Amino acid sequence: MPHIVMESIIKSYGDVRVLDGCSLSVEKGQVMTLLGPSGCGKTTLLRTLAGFVEPDAGRVLVGGIDITALPPNRRSVGYVFQNYALFPHLTVAENVAYGLKVRRRPGPEIKDRVARALDIVSLGPLGDRYPAQLSGGQQQRVAIARVLVLEPDVLLLDEPFNALDAKLRLSMQTELRKLIERLGITSIFVTHDQSEAMMLSDQVAVMRAGTFEQVAPPLAIYDRPANPFVATFIGRANILPVGLRAGAVVDFPAVVAERPDGPADLIVRPENLTLAAGRIDPGTGQSGPPGTVLFAIAQGPTIEYEVDAGFPEPLRVTVNRRSGEVPLAAGSPVSIGVIDPAACRVIERGTP
Ligand SMILES: Nc1ncnc2c1ncn2[C@@H]1O[C@H](COP(=O)(O)OP(=O)(O)O)[C@@H](O)[C@H]1O
Ligand SMILES: [Mg+2]
Repeated sequence: MPHIVMESIIKSYGDVRVLDGCSLSVEKGQVMTLLGPSGCGKTTLLRTLAGFVEPDAGRVLVGGIDITALPPNRRSVGYVFQNYALFPHLTVAENVAYGLKVRRRPGPEIKDRVARALDIVSLGPLGDRYPAQLSGGQQQRVAIARVLVLEPDVLLLDEPFNALDAKLRLSMQTELRKLIERLGITSIFVTHDQSEAMMLSDQVAVMRAGTFEQVAPPLAIYDRPANPFVATFIGRANILPVGLRAGAVVDFPAVVAERPDGPADLIVRPENLTLAAGRIDPGTGQSGPPGTVLFAIAQGPTIEYEVDAGFPEPLRVTVNRRSGEVPLAAGSPVSIGVIDPAACRVIERGTP
């Protein structure tokens, strides 16, 4: 039995359906990430789980118990808000103690639990400071401690790193991942940043317009995206309109597709393509169409090419760069190849 189950959640505001039948389950101790563009319903779904939003239809279960009708304060769900919402006039320790005071816990217990929560987020010595005297990363940790001190069964985090600069983000992401693993607390995490989702999650739910496009472990989504939207939202991808004939892709005969002849979309990652100078077989045995270099940029370990290969959009090809190698000039004729045909996806035309 999964720890968290959301069943066919529907929510509309006016005549706009914001959640359109979302179903999700999360195993105990796992991190699920909701990933999707702004406005797709991530926060609304998280707030439904916390009890701040009442769904029009569907059920929410935690630990097998239906909590759909329970108010937020009767749910054992901790919610770390997008802007940390710390009380500026209270010290760090008082901020963390706040929820326990509201619950009228005895003084010595509060002191103990606050000290432990601050230790967990490595803020032990800073209990007497005020939020304004802390860095962004430290304020973030106070916000997390304030939730952990209540010992929730479930931890919800809504874009918790948005306010942090890139470097701090990276270290906080790693810290948070370690913390969640150590505590074994079932967590749902919201982001619109795909690399953050890849790094933090056991499972990723890719959302678009109130529904899930794919729910799977992050690498499975990267390797086997369900459709072009998912493929371009997680990592970079070429989405090529191709024809199928006799069980193979016309332009890339090495890519087989057990489908009837007709139009399809081929999804191929830039690093799964090769490129060789001249109109020759690139030597992989997986020859593809001839092309012409439009643009090339060397990035140290790789070269990023844009190639005109007769498709509506330039083909993006990432090749590993050998020491001393300079990119082929624009206008150079090249041959395109596929490294691993099995890693390509062929999707019938008409799928979103
Ligand atoms: N209380 C509300 N009243 C009306 N519309 C809302 C409300 N909350 C969210 N929405 C709308 O629902 C959609 C999804 O919002 P949200 O869940 O915040 O998306 P996300 O977190 O993915 O950016 C948006 O179009 C937003 O404007
Ligand atoms: Mg949001």
